[in-house]
Amino acid sequence: SNESKPTILVSEKLGSAGIELLKGFGDVDCSYDLSPEQLCERISKCDALIVRSGTKVTREVFEAAKGRLKVVGRAGVGIDNVDLQAATEYGCLVVNAPTANTVAAAEHGIALLAAMARNRNATFYCNKRLMENGFPGKWQRNKYVGVSMVGKTLAVMGFGKVGSEVARRAKGLGMNVIAHDPYAPADRARAIGVELVSFEQAISTADFISLHMPLTPTTSKVFNDDTFAMMKKGVRIVNVARGGVIDEDALVRALDTGIVAQAALDVFTEEPPPTDSKLILHENVTVTPHLGASTKEAQEGVAIEIAEAVVGALKGELSATA
Ligand code: MLT
Repeated sequence: SNESKPTILVSEKLGSAGIELLKGFGDVDCSYDLSPEQLCERISKCDALIVRSGTKVTREVFEAAKGRLKVVGRAGVGIDNVDLQAATEYGCLVVNAPTANTVAAAEHGIALLAAMARNRNATFYCNKRLMENGFPGKWQRNKYVGVSMVGKTLAVMGFGKVGSEVARRAKGLGMNVIAHDPYAPADRARAIGVELVSFEQAISTADFISLHMPLTPTTSKVFNDDTFAMMKKGVRIVNVARGGVIDEDALVRALDTGIVAQAALDVFTEEPPPTDSKLILHENVTVTPHLGASTKEAQEGVAIEIAEAVVGALKGELSATA
């Protein structure tokens, strides 16, 4: 057994309670904003790496680790930024923090849904805008008539932890909630009063669509020209999952033709998105910079959850959860 303390590299900001927990077990190196080259250089001296979504843990990183790296911890749910195939080949465990930010993501989804329905982006996203353009000239009460949520059909695409919390909250708003998920247990849906339907049925009957699926080869660009064409004209879409599940060029086209009336997006194929992104600049699009998990409570919880998982893995207590 290895007598010396393990070295744990934390490459993105992690809540202090998690850092303290890690320090009780190993040497903690918090180095944010490493370039891919710097990460590859540093990694050969590390037993564990903890990331959020900003660090791409590529095959090159595992190669550069030269067999020393035992575990990658993802301080969050989505592990699409970790090359799982390469991790397996190099015998490295990948663990995530599967529960601590569920509610934060669901709350952000609901917030975006409500904001979008009432044109918050156009009117108040930047409060300054009302002032800059001169009161009362921009006090445009008639221009920004919204839509109601009560009685509307919401399709929750992906009925896992976040999707089901969104569904529960949307029911509280008086929405008719349907969901699509090839793996969801029917009893969980029934308990919340949600009908599980096919992908086609979900997207073709919904007034609002909220995305909660992981990004995998199967879900990549599953919202594309073909599937947008199946939607009800004037549908409104929320994405707090992963940008890559949407073909963003197709979404711009769907917004331009009015198939999609509005979109509220927290996540993008490329983060941050290019500054000339037609999607971000579209007047019917509301954006936030990947804030779904960003509450004080969630970040503290995630930090502890991932620190415990990584320490457990280093002690040999855990097998991969991800
Ligand atoms: C997640 O997968 O949990 C989120 O994207 C959280 C994050 O990276 O902040």
